[in-house]
Amino acid sequence: TPALLVPEWDDIVGWWPALGPESEKYTRGVVGVATGSATYPGAAVLSVGGALAGPTGLVRYAGGAAAEVLHQHPSVIATGRVADAGRVQAWVCGSGLGSGEAAAAELRSVLAAPVPAVLDADALTMLVDGSHAGRLRGRDAPTVVTPHDREFARLCGAAAGSDRVGAALRLAAWMNAVVLLKGDRTVVATPDGRAYVNPTGSPALATGGTGDVLAGLLGSLLAAGVAPERAAVAAAFLHGLAGREAARHGPVTAPDVVDALRPVVARLTAR
Ligand code: APR
Ligand code: MG
Repeated sequence: TPALLVPEWDDIVGWWPALGPESEKYTRGVVGVATGSATYPGAAVLSVGGALAGPTGLVRYAGGAAAEVLHQHPSVIATGRVADAGRVQAWVCGSGLGSGEAAAAELRSVLAAPVPAVLDADALTMLVDGSHAGRLRGRDAPTVVTPHDREFARLCGAAAGSDRVGAALRLAAWMNAVVLLKGDRTVVATPDGRAYVNPTGSPALATGGTGDVLAGLLGSLLAAGVAPERAAVAAAFLHGLAGREAARHGPVTAPDVVDALRPVVARLTAR
């Protein structure tokens, strides 16, 4: 069995892209967010919120909740469909997207894009239903999947059980994707057999929409050029700290986690 890695604050500091005089919004990275729908606009607002808390310079939104997203986040560029989005350096796809034919077409566009992708929630459901899971093995660009326990069980055909690390490693190897298995002590497993357990977090994160925030933050790190394994570990670590921070002020809602990410990232980048 491989060594189980536990990231520390200084690891995340070292992995976070630094800003400098030469920084420019395009070189900082452009993240595309394909989440939400008219039925679930909140998923879009929250995943975009997570993306805006990350290191990228620009967020493009491709989905059916553009009015709500722009109302909450005026700095975002709404682009219509994924295929029409223009330059994007990583995609976040899934939560609140639905699983009809239009959603499936957007997922196919994301999978066809030669850039890293985060697949969450409805994207994972569609992977299973549409037998796309095997197709990830043919994808050149990195993929990170972010299942919670029930999504994991559907992807695997079996529950993770008590050996969450072993189960995540097996799924990562089979899918050729980095697997971020959510829960208390989130596990990150890579296709080549490394595994991390996240030491931060709070049970206060067990509330609707916090997973959407995590997916957005992770996409931002990927678009900024952080390697998938590090991006997944860093996103889980910072999301966990933000959850703890938010819980100090009372019952946590997902927008509180977005707000709490800002001071956490500020500490990270203070030199
Ligand atoms: N301890 C620490 N962290 C936890 C715990 C816990 N006990 N429980 C959950 N979390 C964290 C997870 O690690 C993850 O980061 O909270 C986040 C929850 O993410 P998801 O499970 O994806 O939940 P989310 O999608 O935000 O909300 C649930 O998904 O199942 C659908 O429709 C359902 O609206 C619901 C939504
Ligand atoms: Mg979720």
